[in-house]
Amino acid sequence: MTSNVFSSITLPNGQQIKNRLVKAAMEENLGNRSLVPDGRLVNLYSKWAQGGVGLIITGNVMVDRFAMTGPGGVALEANTELEGFKRWSESAKQNDTRVWMQINHPGRQVFKKMGGKALSASAVPLDLGKHSGLFDTPRAMTEEEIQDVIQRFITTAKKAHQAGFDGVEVHAAHGYLLNQFLSPLTNQRNDQWGGSLENRARLLLDIVRGIRKSVPESFAVAVKLNSADFQRGGFDLEDAKNVVSMLNPLGVDLIEISGGNYEAPAMQGRTADDRTLAREAYFLEFAKDIATVSQVPVMSTGGISRHETAEKVIAAGVDLAGIASALAICPELPNLWQRNSGFTPEIPRPAWKDKTMSSLAVMSTIRRYLNRWSQNKHHKSLDPLTSLIFDQFRAAKLVRRYRRTLAQAS
Ligand SMILES: Cc1cc2nc3c(=O)[nH]c(=O)nc-3n(C[C@H](O)[C@H](O)[C@H](O)COP(=O)(O)O)c2cc1C
Repeated sequence: MTSNVFSSITLPNGQQIKNRLVKAAMEENLGNRSLVPDGRLVNLYSKWAQGGVGLIITGNVMVDRFAMTGPGGVALEANTELEGFKRWSESAKQNDTRVWMQINHPGRQVFKKMGGKALSASAVPLDLGKHSGLFDTPRAMTEEEIQDVIQRFITTAKKAHQAGFDGVEVHAAHGYLLNQFLSPLTNQRNDQWGGSLENRARLLLDIVRGIRKSVPESFAVAVKLNSADFQRGGFDLEDAKNVVSMLNPLGVDLIEISGGNYEAPAMQGRTADDRTLAREAYFLEFAKDIATVSQVPVMSTGGISRHETAEKVIAAGVDLAGIASALAICPELPNLWQRNSGFTPEIPRPAWKDKTMSSLAVMSTIRRYLNRWSQNKHHKSLDPLTSLIFDQFRAAKLVRRYRRTLAQAS
């Protein structure tokens, strides 16, 4: 029988997912002042679970509260109370939905105004042209810091299991720490963590092995990987295929394919080399190619907002379709597609000259939708400029709150 987006799938470690539509990770910026989930995340995730997706991957949860991707983030560490996390996972598991926690370390992609640690494989600063000053030059990690990060990922995964999540996804894409180790542009080390691809992938592989050993078999372990960084000299498709071959024997349940980073936001459909991405399902061709070497199910995320596009992804032999923006605008999209396959939410796409500002405005608009759903507010169409301004004010407030939390903690 041929599969479609509404057919179920059983993952290598036995977990069954009721359909192929997955809510991809979106940082919600809805953590409370203690960096843990509260009623707002419960409201938001109830909507996605009721809306009919088969699997929900949470926005990235930090393994270290001193290294956060953004203000209002969530962190899960050895001594974190699990109460809020339990309510969060319960809300997402309604309606026979699976929920996995995405776990992440930002490495050098920590906004300067946030404070905390900016660590990386090597001391290579972000190049964002006139916006580069938003980030500090990172410090190259010591062996002790690398071992600490490995333990942190394992601890966070174990605690996600204790809190009722069905799995974790290790974030190794989008220019965050594990992607920084994978990419030769940001990893210029000449010890066992740098140089050859085997060495650059060691941190990711050690983390995946460590997590798999520490959680039950039924608990899913996934990896989000760039198909390429889309920068000259960066991590490329051949590297991605080789890393997938290295992940094959490690008991992974899913490899999610994305691309890009803060310098080259391919996940929003824009590259920094001379390649152009498809207008929809940006990474489908890459995911198909990667699926030829993968013994693990593959998911393609990015540029999917139409039912027809999602069907095309599954028909191409890719196992799952990851959807972010469209599900932020319309959490009940899968249910709607069952009744009206032509329904398509409108994704904001400002065509401003300043590409960085356009990207930020898109993110701000999507985040504003998440914020509204979390307060049980009704849907209304949000415009990018107002959202950008709203988001700047909100972020400034949350940054001040985070800095107070940091000061108390240290
Ligand atoms: C507001 C927002 C927050 C995001 N946060 C994350 C995140 O925490 N982790 C992650 O892997 N991707 C994150 N993404 C990227 C999405 O998972 C996805 O790869 C990207 O948006 C492309 O999919 P789409 O075209 O369906 O939006 C985020 C995207 C948006 C819009």
